[in-house]
Amino acid sequence: MNQDELKQAVAKAALEYIKPHLQTDTILGIGTGSTANYFIDALAEVRTQFEGAVASSEASAERLKKHNIPVYELNAVSGLEFYIDGADETNPRLELIKGGGAALTREKIVAANAKTFICIADESKWVGVLGDFPLPIEVIPMARSYVARELVKLGGDPVYREGCVTDNGNIILDVFNLRILEPVKLEQQINQITGVVTNGLFAMRPADVLLLGSQEGVKTIKAND
Ligand code: 5RP
Repeated sequence: MNQDELKQAVAKAALEYIKPHLQTDTILGIGTGSTANYFIDALAEVRTQFEGAVASSEASAERLKKHNIPVYELNAVSGLEFYIDGADETNPRLELIKGGGAALTREKIVAANAKTFICIADESKWVGVLGDFPLPIEVIPMARSYVARELVKLGGDPVYREGCVTDNGNIILDVFNLRILEPVKLEQQINQITGVVTNGLFAMRPADVLLLGSQEGVKTIKAND
Protein backbone atom coordinates (compact mmCIF):
# COMPACT_ATOMS: atom_id res chain seq x y z
CA MET A 1 0.00 0.00 0.00
CA ASN A 2 1.19 3.51 -0.69
CA GLN A 3 1.01 6.31 1.89
CA ASP A 4 -2.42 7.49 0.75
CA GLU A 5 -3.83 3.97 1.00
CA LEU A 6 -2.40 3.64 4.51
CA LYS A 7 -4.07 6.94 5.44
CA GLN A 8 -7.39 5.66 4.11
CA ALA A 9 -6.96 2.40 6.03
CA VAL A 10 -6.41 4.17 9.36
CA ALA A 11 -9.36 6.47 8.69
CA LYS A 12 -11.59 3.44 8.20
CA ALA A 13 -10.11 1.78 11.30
CA ALA A 14 -10.95 4.90 13.32
CA LEU A 15 -14.53 4.73 12.14
CA GLU A 16 -14.76 1.07 13.21
CA TYR A 17 -13.18 2.02 16.56
CA ILE A 18 -15.76 4.68 17.41
CA LYS A 19 -18.84 3.12 15.76
CA PRO A 20 -19.95 1.02 18.76
CA HIS A 21 -19.83 4.16 20.96
CA LEU A 22 -21.88 6.48 18.74
CA GLN A 23 -25.18 7.73 20.14
CA THR A 24 -27.64 10.23 18.75
CA ASP A 25 -26.28 12.94 21.09
CA THR A 26 -22.57 12.21 20.47
CA ILE A 27 -20.43 15.15 19.33
CA LEU A 28 -17.05 14.34 17.80
CA GLY A 29 -13.96 16.50 17.53
CA ILE A 30 -12.42 16.42 14.06
CA GLY A 31 -8.86 17.23 13.08
CA THR A 32 -7.25 18.67 9.99
CA GLY A 33 -5.15 17.34 7.13
CA SER A 34 -5.27 14.64 4.50
CA THR A 35 -5.70 11.73 6.98
CA ALA A 36 -8.44 13.63 8.82
CA ASN A 37 -10.08 14.30 5.44
CA TYR A 38 -10.26 10.56 4.75
CA PHE A 39 -11.82 10.13 8.18
CA ILE A 40 -14.43 12.83 7.45
CA ASP A 41 -15.31 11.06 4.21
CA ALA A 42 -15.65 7.74 6.04
CA LEU A 43 -17.77 9.36 8.74
CA ALA A 44 -20.36 10.39 6.17
CA GLU A 45 -21.48 6.72 6.09
CA VAL A 46 -22.74 6.95 9.69
CA ARG A 47 -23.86 10.57 9.79
CA THR A 48 -27.32 9.73 11.09
CA GLN A 49 -25.85 7.82 14.03
CA PHE A 50 -24.41 10.82 15.92
CA GLU A 51 -25.32 14.46 16.52
CA GLY A 52 -22.49 16.36 14.89
CA ALA A 53 -18.92 17.57 15.07
CA VAL A 54 -16.62 20.35 16.20
CA ALA A 55 -13.93 21.09 13.60
CA SER A 56 -10.34 22.13 14.24
CA SER A 57 -10.16 24.26 11.08
CA GLU A 58 -12.30 26.10 8.57
CA ALA A 59 -11.24 23.54 5.93
CA SER A 60 -12.48 20.57 7.99
CA ALA A 61 -15.71 22.43 8.84
CA GLU A 62 -16.35 22.92 5.11
CA ARG A 63 -15.72 19.27 4.35
CA LEU A 64 -18.02 18.12 7.16
CA LYS A 65 -20.77 20.45 5.92
CA LYS A 66 -20.42 19.08 2.37
CA HIS A 67 -21.30 15.67 3.83
CA ASN A 68 -24.29 17.22 5.67
CA ILE A 69 -22.68 16.58 9.04
CA PRO A 70 -23.78 19.34 11.47
CA VAL A 71 -20.86 21.48 12.67
CA TYR A 72 -21.01 23.09 16.12
CA GLU A 73 -18.98 25.84 17.75
CA LEU A 74 -16.90 24.44 20.59
CA ASN A 75 -18.48 26.93 23.00
CA ALA A 76 -21.92 25.53 22.20
CA VAL A 77 -21.13 21.99 23.38
CA SER A 78 -20.33 20.63 26.81
CA GLY A 79 -17.69 18.08 25.82
CA LEU A 80 -16.50 15.73 23.11
CA GLU A 81 -16.52 11.97 23.18
CA PHE A 82 -13.59 11.51 20.78
CA TYR A 83 -11.09 13.69 18.97
CA ILE A 84 -9.77 12.09 15.77
CA ASP A 85 -6.80 13.64 14.02
CA GLY A 86 -3.58 12.91 12.15
CA ALA A 87 -0.05 13.87 13.16
CA ASP A 88 3.27 14.77 11.61
CA GLU A 89 5.23 12.63 14.07
CA THR A 90 4.44 10.33 16.99
CA ASN A 91 6.75 8.66 19.47
CA PRO A 92 5.96 5.45 21.40
CA ARG A 93 4.46 7.51 24.26
CA LEU A 94 2.01 8.97 21.72
CA GLU A 95 3.48 12.42 22.19
CA LEU A 96 3.05 14.16 18.86
CA ILE A 97 4.26 16.89 16.58
CA LYS A 98 1.34 18.49 14.78
CA GLY A 99 0.74 21.64 12.80
CA GLY A 100 2.01 20.74 9.34
CA GLY A 101 -1.36 22.05 8.15
CA ALA A 102 -1.10 25.17 10.39
CA ALA A 103 -4.15 24.20 12.45
CA LEU A 104 -2.25 23.33 15.64
CA THR A 105 -3.88 25.81 18.01
CA ARG A 106 -7.46 24.85 17.25
CA GLU A 107 -6.40 21.19 17.16
CA LYS A 108 -4.95 21.51 20.65
CA ILE A 109 -8.06 23.25 21.94
CA VAL A 110 -10.41 20.65 20.49
CA ALA A 111 -8.19 17.78 21.71
CA ALA A 112 -8.21 19.27 25.22
CA ASN A 113 -12.00 18.95 25.28
CA ALA A 114 -12.12 15.30 24.25
CA LYS A 115 -12.45 12.28 26.50
CA THR A 116 -10.41 10.16 24.07
CA PHE A 117 -7.91 11.42 21.50
CA ILE A 118 -7.45 8.94 18.65
CA CYS A 119 -4.45 9.69 16.45
CA ILE A 120 -4.55 8.25 12.94
CA ALA A 121 -1.27 8.04 11.08
CA ASP A 122 0.65 6.06 8.51
CA GLU A 123 3.89 4.40 9.59
CA SER A 124 6.08 7.18 8.17
CA LYS A 125 5.02 9.29 11.17
CA TRP A 126 6.40 6.81 13.77
CA VAL A 127 9.72 7.97 15.29
CA GLY A 128 11.81 7.15 18.34
CA VAL A 129 12.62 10.79 19.12
CA LEU A 130 10.51 13.74 17.98
CA GLY A 131 12.07 16.54 16.00
CA ASP A 132 13.00 15.43 12.48
CA PHE A 133 9.78 17.11 11.38
CA PRO A 134 10.22 20.86 11.96
CA LEU A 135 8.16 21.94 14.98
CA PRO A 136 5.42 24.42 13.99
CA ILE A 137 4.82 27.38 16.30
CA GLU A 138 1.83 29.72 15.89
CA VAL A 139 2.94 33.28 16.62
CA ILE A 140 1.25 36.69 16.88
CA PRO A 141 2.58 38.48 13.75
CA MET A 142 4.24 41.44 15.53
CA ALA A 143 6.22 39.04 17.77
CA ARG A 144 7.74 37.07 14.89
CA SER A 145 11.38 38.26 15.15
CA TYR A 146 11.42 38.27 18.94
CA VAL A 147 10.01 34.74 19.14
CA ALA A 148 12.47 33.56 16.47
CA ARG A 149 15.42 34.89 18.53
CA GLU A 150 14.12 33.14 21.66
CA LEU A 151 13.74 29.86 19.73
CA VAL A 152 17.38 30.10 18.61
CA LYS A 153 18.34 30.34 22.30
CA LEU A 154 16.52 27.02 22.81
CA GLY A 155 18.71 25.43 20.14
CA GLY A 156 16.34 25.50 17.15
CA ASP A 157 16.50 27.05 13.69
CA PRO A 158 13.18 28.81 13.10
CA VAL A 159 12.00 29.47 9.55
CA TYR A 160 9.05 31.71 8.69
CA ARG A 161 6.39 29.75 6.75
CA GLU A 162 5.93 32.01 3.72
CA GLY A 163 2.39 32.90 2.73
CA CYS A 164 0.77 31.05 5.63
CA VAL A 165 -1.89 32.79 7.74
CA THR A 166 -3.64 30.60 10.30
CA ASP A 167 -7.41 30.49 10.82
CA ASN A 168 -6.69 32.75 13.82
CA GLY A 169 -4.88 35.37 11.69
CA ASN A 170 -1.38 34.50 12.92
CA ILE A 171 1.86 33.30 11.34
CA ILE A 172 3.80 30.04 11.65
CA LEU A 173 7.48 29.55 12.47
CA ASP A 174 8.78 26.05 11.68
CA VAL A 175 11.65 25.12 13.97
CA PHE A 176 14.29 22.86 12.42
CA ASN A 177 17.06 20.83 14.05
CA LEU A 178 15.44 20.09 17.39
CA ARG A 179 16.07 16.71 18.97
CA ILE A 180 13.20 16.64 21.43
CA LEU A 181 14.18 14.39 24.33
CA GLU A 182 11.83 16.03 26.85
CA PRO A 183 8.67 16.92 24.93
CA VAL A 184 6.61 18.06 27.94
CA LYS A 185 9.37 20.39 29.13
CA LEU A 186 9.93 21.89 25.67
CA GLU A 187 6.19 22.31 25.08
CA GLN A 188 5.96 24.32 28.31
CA GLN A 189 9.15 26.34 27.63
CA ILE A 190 8.05 27.40 24.16
CA ASN A 191 4.57 28.33 25.35
CA GLN A 192 6.20 30.67 27.92
CA ILE A 193 7.71 32.85 25.15
CA THR A 194 5.69 36.05 24.87
CA GLY A 195 3.98 36.20 21.50
CA VAL A 196 3.68 32.43 21.07
CA VAL A 197 0.06 31.34 20.73
CA THR A 198 0.95 27.67 21.00
CA ASN A 199 3.38 25.13 19.65
CA GLY A 200 2.86 21.88 17.78
CA LEU A 201 4.03 19.57 20.58
CA PHE A 202 1.16 17.52 21.93
CA ALA A 203 2.95 16.09 24.95
CA MET A 204 1.10 17.53 27.95
CA ARG A 205 -2.01 16.06 26.31
CA PRO A 206 -0.76 13.21 24.12
CA ALA A 207 -3.02 10.91 22.13
CA ASP A 208 -4.75 8.14 24.05
CA VAL A 209 -4.87 5.70 21.14
CA LEU A 210 -2.79 5.51 17.98
CA LEU A 211 -4.08 3.71 14.90
CA LEU A 212 -0.91 3.24 12.89
CA GLY A 213 -1.16 2.14 9.26
CA SER A 214 1.57 -0.29 8.23
CA GLN A 215 2.12 -2.85 5.48
CA GLU A 216 1.13 -5.54 8.00
CA GLY A 217 -2.21 -3.84 8.73
CA VAL A 218 -3.46 -1.20 11.16
CA LYS A 219 -1.86 -1.47 14.61
CA THR A 220 -3.68 -0.21 17.70
CA ILE A 221 -1.28 1.31 20.21
CA LYS A 222 -2.41 2.72 23.56
CA ALA A 223 -0.48 5.42 25.44
CA ASN A 224 0.18 3.18 28.43
CA ASP A 225 1.03 -0.03 26.48
C1 5RP B 1 -2.53 19.81 10.63
C2 5RP B 1 -1.94 18.63 11.28
C3 5RP B 1 -2.05 17.32 10.57
O1 5RP B 1 -2.66 16.40 11.42
C4 5RP B 1 -0.70 16.83 10.21
O2 5RP B 1 -0.04 17.83 9.45
C5 5RP B 1 -0.77 15.52 9.41
O3 5RP B 1 -1.31 15.78 8.15
P1 5RP B 1 -1.60 14.64 7.09
O4 5RP B 1 -2.72 13.81 7.65
O5 5RP B 1 -2.00 15.40 5.85
O6 5RP B 1 -0.34 13.85 6.89
O7 5RP B 1 -1.38 18.67 12.35
O8 5RP B 1 -2.24 20.98 11.33
